[in-house]
Amino acid sequence: MCGIVGYVGGGRDAKSVIIEGLRRLEYRGYDSAGVAVVADGRIECRKKAGKVADLEAEIAAHPLDASHLGIGHTRWATHGGPTDVNAHPHVVGGGKLAVVHNGIIENFASLRAELETKGYTFLSETDTEVAGALLFDVYVNQASQDLTRAMQLTAQRLEGAFTLLAIEVGQPDRIVAARWNSPLVIGVGEGENFLGSDVSGFIEFTRDAVEMDNGQIVTLTADGYSITTFDGASAEGKPFRVEWDVTAAEKGGYNSFMEKEIHDQPAAVRDTLYGRFNEEGRLTLDELRIDESVLRSVNKIIIVACGTAAYAGQVARYAIEHWCRIPTEVELAHEFRYRDPIVTEQTLVVAVSQSGETMDTLMAVRHAREQGAKVIAICNTVGSSIPREADAVLYTYAGPEIAVASTKAFISQIVAAYLLALYLAQVRGNKFTDEIRGIIEQLQEMPDKIASVLENADQVRELGQELANSKSVLFLGRHVGFPVALEGALKLKEVAYLHSEGFAAGELKHGPIALVEEGQPVFVIVPSKSSRHSLHAKVVSNIQEVRARGAVTIVIAEEGDEDVVQFANHIIRIPESPGLLQPLLATVPLQIFACAVAEARGLNVDQPRNLAKSVTVE
Ligand code: M6R
Repeated sequence: MCGIVGYVGGGRDAKSVIIEGLRRLEYRGYDSAGVAVVADGRIECRKKAGKVADLEAEIAAHPLDASHLGIGHTRWATHGGPTDVNAHPHVVGGGKLAVVHNGIIENFASLRAELETKGYTFLSETDTEVAGALLFDVYVNQASQDLTRAMQLTAQRLEGAFTLLAIEVGQPDRIVAARWNSPLVIGVGEGENFLGSDVSGFIEFTRDAVEMDNGQIVTLTADGYSITTFDGASAEGKPFRVEWDVTAAEKGGYNSFMEKEIHDQPAAVRDTLYGRFNEEGRLTLDELRIDESVLRSVNKIIIVACGTAAYAGQVARYAIEHWCRIPTEVELAHEFRYRDPIVTEQTLVVAVSQSGETMDTLMAVRHAREQGAKVIAICNTVGSSIPREADAVLYTYAGPEIAVASTKAFISQIVAAYLLALYLAQVRGNKFTDEIRGIIEQLQEMPDKIASVLENADQVRELGQELANSKSVLFLGRHVGFPVALEGALKLKEVAYLHSEGFAAGELKHGPIALVEEGQPVFVIVPSKSSRHSLHAKVVSNIQEVRARGAVTIVIAEEGDEDVVQFANHIIRIPESPGLLQPLLATVPLQIFACAVAEARGLNVDQPRNLAKSVTVE
């Protein structure tokens, strides 16, 4: 939620660096955008409701002076609607100080009242302008016009979540920023330095980065940076090198990031598997620093996550219970701590998150650890909050996911969770090494199989165009196909604004079948014929039931499965695979379909309305 960029240097024009960073961070929020620079001893600010492109038009109409220092923001509105006035930066103190902010300041109303009694007036409805005014007041009255000290004192008074960046005309060589429960990374260049909500804010200019910890303040100049705690004690960040380069964050010839990321999936699976087992099939999850005796004592697993990541968790549950025989629950992270869950020292909590910044999931992680559970994060963003607060992390190596709709992260979350399950099975002796090796070999075949599903993308795209004007679309699946159905429906809602629902196919006759009328499109994910409990036959019956009531059936079935042919209006073929691995294939056409419907409806596939990529508010 909200993207933040800061730049201080010598050789480049700050606004160009900032606009470039905002373009890359726009996936975090795109209600409004703005830039403030220090030029000739004054702050110049341009901001605009709408996209970064609207801000660029504003700057073209009202140019900003060249400058070597500035801050920028792309917003997902919380306090106050997406208007020009509410857009960041907020300039306070009679034009002397500017701030941008990500997060929510929960005590902003009382702070605002306090500042009003001192004579401050406010232009916007935002909590950010209040934080800026407080910072200015502290800067002038308590911190002897030292911006770092002022930020330390201000941060101590703010409640909620914030990444707050400030510039001040009196100290025109520096940006000072505070981080509390909201992300901030430093980019280290030569004679120039950067700040970003994540590394994509500066990836074009440097791949050397420093992770900041919660409760830290950084003072950034062209020559370096220094970090303190909110109390003013000297502190350190954690340097790291970004492993992907700028091309990974480009569309690469596709119409949208979503389309590109769907096509990244074979590589995402390959990279997530890479280096995690030896030739005998022994898993070596080096980064999973939890003692094996602790893993052996686990008697319950709870997977916490939101949205698509929670569906990945639902898929993983089937594998974990089957391979490890450990009772496993999947809980929406925002519900977890409010139902007083039974969590003990023998509970292993697995937090799944692409961004690693989802506040609901982060809060669930904290709650679990407070109860004594060990927490393993499955995450795609190195150095983000959730892996930092967890006891251990298993990274998915999907590369940057820019489109708001999660695609390659979902697939690689399933792969990472399967690796974790196999590791638990290995440590606890539930499976022999050769059994584990067999499953790993099947996983290793998945990148090529996903690639072959992608070869049929045109068929699915045509279907998307044909069904783009449907009133609603239903998705049915059983076993691991059930969360796949839920994911297919979420994708369609999210990017195409088309009403859709996913159901466990067995639930159909308990109510949802009443929705089926003539012409209703129904996707059905058909399990492998070799699946357990004769699931295949049951799903074929489900297809017949909806078809008999007038549904247009779109059947996702394995190559060679002829039983479905007579009941399918459309068949999308996927390669044969073991049942538990089928979601890695069956999800792909659903992603392509949602993307195609959104395009046919003329929508912005990558930036659906009302959404943001990482949800850093509860
Ligand atoms: O970054 P996270 O994986 O924690 O995000 C969780 C959800 O917000 C996310 O999966 C969301 O549902 C996606 N936009 C779905 O495509």
